[in-house]
Amino acid sequence: MITLGIETSCDETAAAVVAPGPRVLSNIIHSQIPDHAPHGGVVPEIASRAHVEVLPDILRRAVLDAGLEWTALDQIAVTAGPGLAGALLIGVSAAQALALALDRPLVTVHHIEAHLHSLFLAPELPADNVLFPVAALVVSGGHTSLMRLDSRRSYALLGRSLDDAAGECLDKGAKLMGLPYPGGPEIERLAESGDPLRFRFPRGIVTDSGTLAKGLAADACFSFSGLKTALRYFLRDHPDRVRDALPDIAAGYQHAVISALVERLVTVADRIGARTLACAGGVARNRILRNRLAQVATDTGRNRVLTPPGYCTDNAAMIAAAAVAGWGRAVTDPARLDIYPTWPLAGVGK
Ligand code: KG4
Ligand code: ZN
Repeated sequence: MITLGIETSCDETAAAVVAPGPRVLSNIIHSQIPDHAPHGGVVPEIASRAHVEVLPDILRRAVLDAGLEWTALDQIAVTAGPGLAGALLIGVSAAQALALALDRPLVTVHHIEAHLHSLFLAPELPADNVLFPVAALVVSGGHTSLMRLDSRRSYALLGRSLDDAAGECLDKGAKLMGLPYPGGPEIERLAESGDPLRFRFPRGIVTDSGTLAKGLAADACFSFSGLKTALRYFLRDHPDRVRDALPDIAAGYQHAVISALVERLVTVADRIGARTLACAGGVARNRILRNRLAQVATDTGRNRVLTPPGYCTDNAAMIAAAAVAGWGRAVTDPARLDIYPTWPLAGVGK
């Protein structure tokens, strides 16, 4: 199935064509970061307007880059949630129009499931490198989820952040430090020359399992809002350090986020007997996180699979590839497709 994927859930307008394999035939991404950066974060209305403006051209370029005609497409796949309502609507409307005009099937894809599936986008990934069960982290700007993957088609959610996502925590922390949006890469850059152990920040242990949804374990869940508050007070109380030790503060803050992610992943991996550690999503671009995961996988005798850096942040190749692999939900009447801004993770193939 040659699939056109469309992604507009947040601040990237993206379209891609993927063939079985998966073979990514084209992957066009328009980042809106310059539009949102002056505001210090994503402004939903600006995101929707920018999607409307650029999506038609992005779609044309995706088909052209793949060296195909529109009629060569076998199906259309679109992110229907979770995400910003106004932003999702733009991609979904375009997908509906294309499915109706081309008379092709339309499937919806869950954005976080697509991030999870992006693990399999590594062209060099030998099939036997992914030994199941896999303990997988999906860490993005909007979500932090810990999953058990039992096959390329079936997963269960074991834990998640109860407040801020890891990427959100980095973005908000960066803002407090006076760094531009998005904060994750900025903190990574600044932290390169810093000492991660000079200042210690809390790692946010979740102790109250009474409030957790069924199936979630406290030691597989995250809480990042306290970390952000600790940074706020630290910066308020140590203005001198902000001037002369910002790289050390950034490194310490990043270290707290990454340590929480790695520690929970290993806890879950031990419990489920995972043979592979995996990580996907925008924060998985972070080189310190990638190195820590590589090290801990080696230390614990497990394989590791990390989404290739180019497919970590939002893109449509992961949407199309997820659909090619059967992770999409068929839409019976494309004229009646809705959006799901808070679409929960339910597990596939269960
Ligand atoms: O997956 P993504 O593009 O969008 C969502 O689905 O949310 O993730 C965006 C997040 C942002 O919070 C951004 O700061 C973070 O990924 N990010 C990084 C890095 N690159 C992007 N965080 C840490 N280190 C990076 N190099
Ligand atoms: Zn995303």
